[in-house]
Amino acid sequence: MARAKKNVRKSGRRHPLATAALVAVGLLVTGAAYTGFSQTSATAEIDLESPATIEAGEKLFGANCATCHGASAQGTDDGPSLIGAGAASVNFQVGTGRMPLAFQGPQGMVKPAQFTEDQTLQMAAYVASLAPGPELPDSRYLQGDGDVANGGTLFRINCAMCHNVAAAGGALTQGKFAPALTGVAPTHIYEAMVTGPQNMPVFSDANISPQEKSDIISYLKYIEEKPAVGGITLGSLGPVAEGLFIWVIGLGAIVGLTVWVTAKSN
Ligand code: HEC
Ligand code: HEC
Repeated sequence: MARAKKNVRKSGRRHPLATAALVAVGLLVTGAAYTGFSQTSATAEIDLESPATIEAGEKLFGANCATCHGASAQGTDDGPSLIGAGAASVNFQVGTGRMPLAFQGPQGMVKPAQFTEDQTLQMAAYVASLAPGPELPDSRYLQGDGDVANGGTLFRINCAMCHNVAAAGGALTQGKFAPALTGVAPTHIYEAMVTGPQNMPVFSDANISPQEKSDIISYLKYIEEKPAVGGITLGSLGPVAEGLFIWVIGLGAIVGLTVWVTAKSN
């Protein structure tokens, strides 16, 4: 047995699974490294207080935002003042692609972001330099390792009335809506809570502590990943949608079948 093994090694032949194992290890390592990098990049190492960053942000702001928000962010008829809006608000609005606003409407739409992360942070630094406002979240609250059960409870109490219990989103008045919360980056979830875009209330740290915000983010990431155990969710709208489905499709099928059976027997 031992001899046979030796021979195999000498002739330089590998176990047939060796290549597969090597590829698997390679993929795992790259995957892990990538996750590591993409997570840290959410709060890139850029000094928001350095004069160079602020100056770069001021230039970008002048070229892309000043037409609506004013040359020194004081606001115009086309856009609100951003004095005191804070870095978190800029990172949220620009990072989700809502800003720069494409057209005037009831609500800025989510679009592919038009600026790189560095450019976004430079503009955030500029706005933050004008007056104190909500700061960028600390990355330790964005890991998705909070208390999912507590997050679920907090979500149902504070968010579900607008965003739906399953975070599927819902309509509000005057053409506005609370969007679905799947696929939203943890940073942007946190920033939405501290800045309260549009009709959404601001959830200050006195209201919902940073740790509780982390729990809510963890809950949202949990429901995003968990498989739907009950089959098709029908948008998770609850008994009304499910009842309607059975009423229309189920009863419809029975009526159809009855008609078909009687037609055949005639
Ligand atoms: C076409 C006009 C327009 C342009 C261009 C524009 N904005 Fe806005 N912005 C608005 C309007 C209108 C609102 C308020 C409506 C809303 O929140 O959806 C707003 C809201 C915001 C808010 C939220 C303010 C708050 O108090 O919550 C931020 C932050 C912001 N804009 C940043 C920017 C930045 C940064 C740029 C440039 C990259 C930009 N905007 C370009 C019109 C514009
Ligand atoms: C009164 C209704 C209301 C409540 C309560 C509310 N929201 Fe919102 N939320 C909104 C509206 C409206 C928007 C869209 C704002 C916009 O597009 O400018 C929004 C946007 C968001 C977004 C951005 C989604 C995206 O696609 O970029 C997140 C994340 C979010 N809310 C999370 C929460 C969380 C978490 C809570 C509870 C702690 C909460 N919201 C409570 C109305 C609400």
